[in-house]
Amino acid sequence: MNFELTEEQLAVQAAARDFAQNELLPGVIERDEEQKFPAEQIKKMGELGFMGMMVDPKYNGGGMDSVSYVLAMEEISKVDASCSVAMSVNNSLVCWGLEKFATEEQKQKYLTKLATGEIIGAFCLSEPEAGSDATSQRTTAEDKGDYYLLNGTKNWITNGNSAGVYIVIAQTDPEKKHKGINALIVEKGMDGFVVGKKENKLGIRGSDTHSLMFTDVKVPKENRIGEDGFGFKFAMATLNGGRIGIASQALGIASGAYELALKYSQERKAFGKPIAEHQAIQFKLAEMATQIEAARLLCLNAASLKDQGKNYVKAAAMAKVFASKVAMDVTVEAVQVHGGYGFVKEYHVERLMRDAKITQIYEGTSEIQKIVIARELLKS
Ligand code: CAA
Repeated sequence: MNFELTEEQLAVQAAARDFAQNELLPGVIERDEEQKFPAEQIKKMGELGFMGMMVDPKYNGGGMDSVSYVLAMEEISKVDASCSVAMSVNNSLVCWGLEKFATEEQKQKYLTKLATGEIIGAFCLSEPEAGSDATSQRTTAEDKGDYYLLNGTKNWITNGNSAGVYIVIAQTDPEKKHKGINALIVEKGMDGFVVGKKENKLGIRGSDTHSLMFTDVKVPKENRIGEDGFGFKFAMATLNGGRIGIASQALGIASGAYELALKYSQERKAFGKPIAEHQAIQFKLAEMATQIEAARLLCLNAASLKDQGKNYVKAAAMAKVFASKVAMDVTVEAVQVHGGYGFVKEYHVERLMRDAKITQIYEGTSEIQKIVIARELLKS
């Protein structure tokens, strides 16, 4: 396996790093504190090509590979995981799903705008009673001939208020179970569609997480993605790639915290020398760096398999379950290295520690990833 990066991949990584350090770092503490959605920053990310990185240039995308996407996600997540979750959902769950499965008309109408960040997308699967158990959708899309009548509630939707386009997973024929589910493209402003309350969260507080309510929303048939009953498979296929995005987010949160701990440990003195010269701290730094390197390799492996058109279901789930655990462990240690300073906001590591937790929950909990991995193992 050769993970030597190409010049193009290195350039993407450098551009993402510059953007994150120069444009995301200033104000990130305030955005977290005020739960302020980074609208301006995301607009700029769209202009720089980070919102539709892998989309074909004929639909206004960047035409980049998944490895470049991992590299960019890591750099942006080092600084602001609220920005990177919007980026991940737009790239992996919305743009990828549309490019792969939508009709040409749907791509021209929606993908061309989503790929530039002119509008951003949301992926609406989770419900009050259907998170991990994704077939138990209560939201209904009743077939009314030339339209679906959409009714129900979605919960914890990333980009919930800021999106212009929502991919909504809903049950059309409960008797058919997962084969009776459809994925519908819903536009903001459709009659009967209301954005509900914003969640007050532990982490990724700048991210715009809302519940959504649909009451007799008429969604034209031409807004269905794929054949009738394809919605569950659409969601599963899309989440496979989404897991590479969230694994890379977790990697970035971990490496961001590690870099801060490394720098701090060389500046802070105790017992007459920088704390980095004490073995207790050296052990922590070595452990963090090793864990991060392993997580990075898993992320790159999953992305590389995807780029080669090979099966990446297991690799993506492995990357996510491992990198999200690393994100938790490393951020806790980074706070510890900072001592009392780690517990205050100015030093950033407490925010990264809070942000890390969600990577073990969304786009499939760690427990779900293990189920996905085990199923793939048992298949072979
Ligand atoms: N990739 C492709 N296809 C898959 C798949 C996968 N990973 N997993 C299942 N499928 C297909 C199966 O092949 C099967 O197809 P057939 O009908 O042709 O046989 C079909 O889907 C049904 O499969 P199962 O019977 O195995 O489905 P299940 O009900 O047992 O569920 C599960 C499997 C893995 C638990 C699934 O429900 C799951 O992944 N749940 C987690 C959902 C999730 O990630 N939720 C997070 C919400 S999104 C989010 O968080 C976004 C955000 O805001 C950041």
